[in-house]
Amino acid sequence: MITTENKKIYKAKIETMEKVSTSSYFMEINCSIPVDVKAGQFISIYCDGLTLRRPFSVYSNNNGKIGILFKERGKGTRYIKSLNSGDFIDIMGPVGNCFNISNKKSLLVGAGIGVAPISFLKSELDKKNIDNMFIAGFLNKEEVIKGMSVDRIYTDDGSIGQKGSVLNYLDEIIKEYKPQIIYSCGPLIVLKTVAQVGEKYGIETQVAMEKVMACGIGVCRGCVIDVIKDGKTVNATVCKDGPVFNGSEVVWH
Ligand SMILES: Cc1cc2nc3c(=O)[nH]c(=O)nc-3n(C[C@H](O)[C@H](O)[C@H](O)COP(=O)(O)OP(=O)(O)OC[C@H]3O[C@@H](n4cnc5c(N)ncnc54)[C@H](O)[C@@H]3O)c2cc1C
Ligand code: FES
Repeated sequence: MITTENKKIYKAKIETMEKVSTSSYFMEINCSIPVDVKAGQFISIYCDGLTLRRPFSVYSNNNGKIGILFKERGKGTRYIKSLNSGDFIDIMGPVGNCFNISNKKSLLVGAGIGVAPISFLKSELDKKNIDNMFIAGFLNKEEVIKGMSVDRIYTDDGSIGQKGSVLNYLDEIIKEYKPQIIYSCGPLIVLKTVAQVGEKYGIETQVAMEKVMACGIGVCRGCVIDVIKDGKTVNATVCKDGPVFNGSEVVWH
């Protein structure tokens, strides 16, 4: 591992590369030494020939073996997908902050590939015996991640679980489960709705934000969002101040 002031760079060996839904892949890499990583943090992967590293939430951590779930989008993810077990990749991280876990009845809301950090969070809550319910939304049954343990599934087309967006069910679930905190990751509309619903019921929310990133370490300020601090709107970087924010502090444009 090379550690500079705020960079931790590893050459990691790919142990597993597996297709886990129609459009997503699970990659597990071996960093050779135990890596301290918490749910919500991410790693940035160097993709051959591309200047900017690509960020991915940590999905699992097993004694230095870090797992990510990724969807193919463009050149970077195509490169990662082309790799095989035994190949080496260059990762930076884990970076960013993490979910702030407390011993409260927890509702976990994941949507699409946003289920990755939420599933990792669930495993951390389970280890601490914290009561939790993990609900996840996908487009259809082909998109559901193989091997992931979810309490309730919602699909847009109803091909598995309940039909419709997970957002349509939030009110009903909150009334039934009575969570004291809600954690979420997924598309912006999911995070915004979770934050609004939390506000409506007076429940704390924590949301893992996504922004296209450049440096990934808080230098270029290419990933800023607006947040409210001490009554004032200020900038915060998703890569260093986040990616996890309290839903109530984010300015939802
Ligand atoms: C903190 C964080 C955690 C993330 N975790 C995951 C994860 O666990 N799994 C996963 O599959 N993806 C995750 N992403 C998104 C992932 O970084 C992008 O999909 C990836 O960088 C795309 O690279 P590419 O070269 O394949 O695509 P590009 O050629 O760079 O882009 C292809 C398309 O994807 C869009 N895109 C690029 N970056 C992002 C982004 N950050 N958010 C939304 N759209 C983007 C572009 O606008 C473009 O339309 C995360 C992003 C952030 C910021
Ligand atoms: S990506 Fe450079 S500051 Fe966040």
